[in-house]
Amino acid sequence: MKKEEIIALLNEDLESEHGAIIQYLSHVYAMGEGELACEIEAIAREEMRHLDWLAETIVELGGKPSMNRGKMRMEGKSTSDWMKNDVLLEEDAITMYKEHIKLIDDRVVKRLLKRILSDEESHHGDFAHFVEKVKREDVKDLRGDRQDRVAEILNWGIEHEYTVILQYLLHSYVATNEEMKLEMEDQAINEMQHMGWLAEKMVSGKGNPRLEHAQLNKSTGMTDMLKADIKIEKEVAAEYDRAAKEVADAGLKKLLTRIRDHEIYHVEVFDDPLDEVEKS
Ligand SMILES: [Fe+2]
Ligand SMILES: [Fe+2]
Ligand SMILES: [Fe+2]
Repeated sequence: MKKEEIIALLNEDLESEHGAIIQYLSHVYAMGEGELACEIEAIAREEMRHLDWLAETIVELGGKPSMNRGKMRMEGKSTSDWMKNDVLLEEDAITMYKEHIKLIDDRVVKRLLKRILSDEESHHGDFAHFVEKVKREDVKDLRGDRQDRVAEILNWGIEHEYTVILQYLLHSYVATNEEMKLEMEDQAINEMQHMGWLAEKMVSGKGNPRLEHAQLNKSTGMTDMLKADIKIEKEVAAEYDRAAKEVADAGLKKLLTRIRDHEIYHVEVFDDPLDEVEKS
């Protein structure tokens, strides 16, 4: 099998991991705090590790990781329907990985996919168990349909955070400068935290977090990437600042201010590798 063909299959896998992460996180946010939400979040975190391994492997093979989102199964009204959808999504993943393991002849890639497959089989069992558990524990969908300015600000923030998570991950995968790679990955993790905080705030305020992202900056040159990342951080730091001043709720004000401070910090940490890249 040609390298290009392996890369194409791995990108399919990558996209499906992305879909799974967002599907599971949407359930985590909608259920609010609780033991079950924690367990599902732990599964989402394992899918993030899969995404990371797949992206790194694609880059090692000379490819570019796709940041497109694969299929999601978002229909269904009750939390038990959601768990059934999660079971089905894991079944999709299991079928796909088995097929790709058969097709791919590269020993190292095969080994990785087998490793991921065993996780998906375990997730499948977990979700099958959760179908009954949510009924037994009467786990509810806590979202509402709040539509005011606060909901608008939170959805703006969620969209922004989701966008930069993907953008920084992509930039970290394609970066050749070690410092930049680490910095980008670190900040992507921080943006994941922001997205979670905003989504939780949204649900606790009876809103419905919209997990969609905006256009990513897909440049691959080091200077272009860093300049794009610094530009977006400056813009959102200003926007979080404006929003923090606008809202009345003290808890929300504090949250937006805290995120603003992180974004200001990101501008500073991205400036260092930019200096270094421009010098060399
Ligand atoms: Fe996975
Ligand atoms: Fe899974
Ligand atoms: Fe952020």
